[in-house]
Amino acid sequence: MSSARLPVLEKFIADLRTVWSAEADNQRRMERAKPLLEQLVKDAGLKAHSASWPSTEGYKNLLLYVDPDHHFVINAVVRMPGRTGSVHDHADAWVLYGVLDGSESLERYERIDDGSRPGYAEVRLASVSTGTQGKVDLVPPGAIHAEQGGPTRSVAIIVRSQRLGQGTVLQSATARLRSRTNWWRDEIARLRGAGVTCAYEIDANSAAARTTRSEWPER
Ligand SMILES: [Fe+2]
Repeated sequence: MSSARLPVLEKFIADLRTVWSAEADNQRRMERAKPLLEQLVKDAGLKAHSASWPSTEGYKNLLLYVDPDHHFVINAVVRMPGRTGSVHDHADAWVLYGVLDGSESLERYERIDDGSRPGYAEVRLASVSTGTQGKVDLVPPGAIHAEQGGPTRSVAIIVRSQRLGQGTVLQSATARLRSRTNWWRDEIARLRGAGVTCAYEIDANSAAARTTRSEWPER
């Protein structure tokens, strides 16, 4: 990537710096940044530019910017067609996820255990929405979610309140279980087809993912 940033990205950074200077609270900052990111990811020039960005397969992000004063971060991800995303959260970071190109399924999960067992979580699929260019998802700290690739290559721009990888909750657990993810996808697709959501275990210690309930009625 060129070291000279696109003017549209320079403007976006300047606008974010204004927001971060005016607001001390990360939630307020992100709420004010959301419409700015919605505008950015509708930009035709940025979308055309992103066509040359490399794939970020393998839990990588492209690092576009780190603010030296406020420490917010701008990343990008480039997903290959049909890319399977893992279930994860971002610990205590606030995150804005904006789709620039292609389409992705944005999934939210609910945690249904009491959190008392270390390295263990039980979650269920709560909602799925389709993200296309211009869609921005605000992901609060601890919100459990996944992004699934669509039929074509997709690109997203991400604003984080802090750098990736600071703090861990489910991120490390799900990363270890990556090899089982396709099996989960099949299971979720099957249950969706039957009109139900599902619950399954994430066991960080044994890496032995298994469904705890094959069916979970909507509540
Ligand atoms: Fe995420």
